[in-house]
Amino acid sequence: MRCIVTGGAGFLGSHLCESLLARGHDVCVVDDLFRGRKANMEDCKGMPDFHFVLGDCADISKMEKAEEKLNGVDIVYHLAAINGTRYFNERPDLVISVNLRTTDTVVKFASERGARLVFTSSPEAYGIQNVMPLEENAEGICPSPHSHLRHSYGASKYLGEILVQYAVRERGLDGRIVRPFNGYGPRLKGGEHGQVSSIFLQQCHEEKDITLHGDGEQTRCFTWYSDLIDGIVALGELDEGVDGRPLRGSSFNIGSKEEVSIRELAEIALKVSGSISEITSGDGHPGDTPRRVPDTSAAEAALGWQATVGIEEGMHRCWEWMLAE
Ligand SMILES: NC(=O)c1ccc[n+]([C@@H]2O[C@H](COP(=O)([O-])OP(=O)(O)OC[C@H]3O[C@@H](n4cnc5c(N)ncnc54)[C@H](O)[C@@H]3O)[C@@H](O)[C@H]2O)c1
Repeated sequence: MRCIVTGGAGFLGSHLCESLLARGHDVCVVDDLFRGRKANMEDCKGMPDFHFVLGDCADISKMEKAEEKLNGVDIVYHLAAINGTRYFNERPDLVISVNLRTTDTVVKFASERGARLVFTSSPEAYGIQNVMPLEENAEGICPSPHSHLRHSYGASKYLGEILVQYAVRERGLDGRIVRPFNGYGPRLKGGEHGQVSSIFLQQCHEEKDITLHGDGEQTRCFTWYSDLIDGIVALGELDEGVDGRPLRGSSFNIGSKEEVSIRELAEIALKVSGSISEITSGDGHPGDTPRRVPDTSAAEAALGWQATVGIEEGMHRCWEWMLAE
């Protein structure tokens, strides 16, 4: 199949490209390198079936260029977005504008061509949630923007899902939605705008204090990147669910069921790295979700999907990767 991957220079996107190429597909990435890196695509570069278009995928001409390079398009994996918790509060204007403009363009592009679309939404699309595990069709609750702006990202994903579902209903789009839960693995960004598992390992590497946001008792279900990629690829490739259900207009939560607190994650980072760093408490992000656990029963039944890598094993692999880098 001829696949366009928006955001293919990023963490998940670059791994997705490698998986698609290994499965014999032709791939073209559209990425403006806002947060992605050319180095992430090093293993794809030079493969005859791999192409890259530098630019904003909200610009239809960049999507058309990708289509030209592939001589058509069968499926669009739409991963381009501004991700990373600091941006949600610091640049909500950018988060909303980029995430909505890109999804709007990509949905129209795929609809007009009769291409299948897989949209990577997020559990943040549910807003604040107290009922766990999170079911596919749980209703979202959005806090007042008067208190904080964190939900710029979640709201942009929620509206993105509406754009997809509207095109499914009114424009004949074969659109599908996947919500990955806290992916981690090689290439996940650390640093100021990075994600927690990489930040902790970096702090261990530099023997700096591991700083928790608040007391660190908030929990997440960290999911190994290749498990997520398997779910995303299955959703893109299957014509119907393995249980026979239609996939057009479907949405799936994919995530590990191993719930760990951020404090436990810090302890695992110390264990796998052997670092002498100390765990300290710092300021929290406003609106941080206290608990996030997926209900993956639908993905298990329809995609034959489940998480396979535990957090300690995954963090160990990340540490090995970091040392090799
Ligand atoms: N990593 C996770 O755990 C996770 C969880 C839930 C949802 N998601 C979603 O999955 C997708 C991929 O996440 P990721 O962790 O790989 O993020 P990432 O930031 O590493 O990748 C996003 C990519 O999109 C690119 N991009 C941003 N704006 C663009 C634009 N206007 N045009 C073209 N490219 C643009 C960035 O340069 C980057 O390469 C995102 O949509 C994210 O919201 C990720």
